[in-house]
Amino acid sequence: MPQAKFLGHACVTLSEGTHKLIIDPFLTGNPQAAAKPDEIEAGHVLVTHGHGDHVGDAVAIAKKNSATIIANFELANLCGKEGAEFHPMHIGGGHDFDFGRVKMTIAHHGGGYGEDASRYTGPPVGFLVTIGGKTVYHAGDTGLFYDMKLIGEMNKIDLAFLPIGDNFTMGIDDAVKAVEFLRPARVVPIHYDTFPVIEADPNEFAKKVGKLAEVAILKPGDSIDF
Ligand code: NI
Ligand code: MN
Repeated sequence: MPQAKFLGHACVTLSEGTHKLIIDPFLTGNPQAAAKPDEIEAGHVLVTHGHGDHVGDAVAIAKKNSATIIANFELANLCGKEGAEFHPMHIGGGHDFDFGRVKMTIAHHGGGYGEDASRYTGPPVGFLVTIGGKTVYHAGDTGLFYDMKLIGEMNKIDLAFLPIGDNFTMGIDDAVKAVEFLRPARVVPIHYDTFPVIEADPNEFAKKVGKLAEVAILKPGDSIDF
């Protein structure tokens, strides 16, 4: 049975048997971080977009573990330039890896990298990850978009990670609409309370989702089997 662990903000690890991957490994400088970068074991590092609170320690973790970074073409190449192994993909594309399948989805957001966010890293993305026969959707940073309905129609999503923190991404009400579109069995709210500007109440989200899906409110460091 695959397991997901929330490490704070948008950082999630997925594991199944010997396969381990990490998504958006922002640990250094993350006030919520439930692990240190050098504690992470991963064969693949997935990055949704070029913002610092998502790229985070990706290159360092990839180098230490001889892991492969999976990101859009532009961001993957940028990580490659910093010395990491990488597998570039792009929106709409899927690929079979040793642990399962990754498909890249759209996300509506930005992606500038570096101190002043000025380096181009291509468009932001979300990930559909199939591991251990189960499908996980990590939305990345995004506003609500109507194609989530299509993603829900075309995929049986067992577990969804959706931002609820507002300001930079969907807020609670839009994230509830996203659940309605995606129809996941379970949903975990992410990307809230890390900084004052994205404070949000996950219990309000759970209440508003109601019977649409099971809401799992994970504290940084919490794991769930799915
Ligand atoms: Ni962002
Ligand atoms: Mn973010």
